[in-house]
Amino acid sequence: MTAFDWTKLQKPEELELTRKYRFRSDFLPTLFSYLRVQPGMKVVDVGCGTGSFTLDLARAVGPGGCVTGIDLDERLLTIAGKRATRDEVGKSVRFLHGSAYEIPLPNGQADAAVCISLLQHLRAPVKALVEMKRIVTTGGSVSAVEGVGSLPPGMPEIDVLPSCGFPANEQLCASLTKIDGAWLKHVHPRATDELKTNRDTKAVIQRIPALFHEAGFHKIELNGHFSVFSFADSRNDYTRLREYARDCLSHLQNLVESEFAEVVAVAETESGLHRSDLDKAIDLIHQKSEFLLGDRSRLLGQHSWIGTAYIICAGSETREECFEPPAPQRR
Ligand SMILES: C[S@@+](CC[C@H](N)C(=O)[O-])C[C@H]1O[C@@H](n2cnc3c(N)ncnc32)[C@H](O)[C@@H]1O
Repeated sequence: MTAFDWTKLQKPEELELTRKYRFRSDFLPTLFSYLRVQPGMKVVDVGCGTGSFTLDLARAVGPGGCVTGIDLDERLLTIAGKRATRDEVGKSVRFLHGSAYEIPLPNGQADAAVCISLLQHLRAPVKALVEMKRIVTTGGSVSAVEGVGSLPPGMPEIDVLPSCGFPANEQLCASLTKIDGAWLKHVHPRATDELKTNRDTKAVIQRIPALFHEAGFHKIELNGHFSVFSFADSRNDYTRLREYARDCLSHLQNLVESEFAEVVAVAETESGLHRSDLDKAIDLIHQKSEFLLGDRSRLLGQHSWIGTAYIICAGSETREECFEPPAPQRR
């Protein structure tokens, strides 16, 4: 059997980068309240990827609680494991290899089961929700956080740099749009076939409450979050931002040079991508970035922003009506 390789769809670095800026620490307490996660709880993070969120969960449950991250991709779990050993909360975290469809845990084991950006990729999301329900204790909860879309619209998904507010460059955006098109047409369908992930992610997100209902949840709550990132936001830690900007740059370079070289080649032959335009644009971005990173006030002066919206759905089995049923009419 071939190993499940999520990295064909999304590189671990990309996963980490987006998590770093989308889930800022001042939002996490609100998110955890939506996920019904509290100190001392046993929580399972299904489809945990590189574990960045799993460790945030471990901080939320504190030393009295514990968190289990589960994923089908062993390579991502290795990264997650290494990360946990470097982190002070690592002791209360463990990672297990397994599928959302057959979670390797006994019934009623957890107080809460959560998944982030998982359901929209699954062909059978209800099956995963039923499985998550099986592993939570009576009265426990199951929650999903799914990305709904980004603003400003029209930014190509793949353009990590411009999408995190770094100097947008028209030439680069045009080249990346062509690369993105080639990826969607040639690589994504192949990867999704092999990985059996869902093609129609929007339809899954739209049906989230229905999916919870079909999985047997009765008390269902929906919340939303819009996460905004800008270098100009004075609440940011600027040392980390510099690191982040550097990570973005090297990620972009890797994408084009090695990781997705095959896609770049397809875009050249099929979408009229000129490799020299792309190279020139990346060079320019490097020069501009060095200029900005060299001076704190210049970096702060980057006023562009990017926002990502999330829908958060939580369900428990408890049969509790949200609304009082109307009183019977007297004649
Ligand atoms: C978009 S990533 C999200 C990772 C992580 N939750 C985060 O937000 O950083 C989706 C993850 O789901 C995992 N995955 C996909 N199908 C799965 C399945 N059937 N069972 C368990 N994990 C799965 C992938 O390996 C990948 O790590």
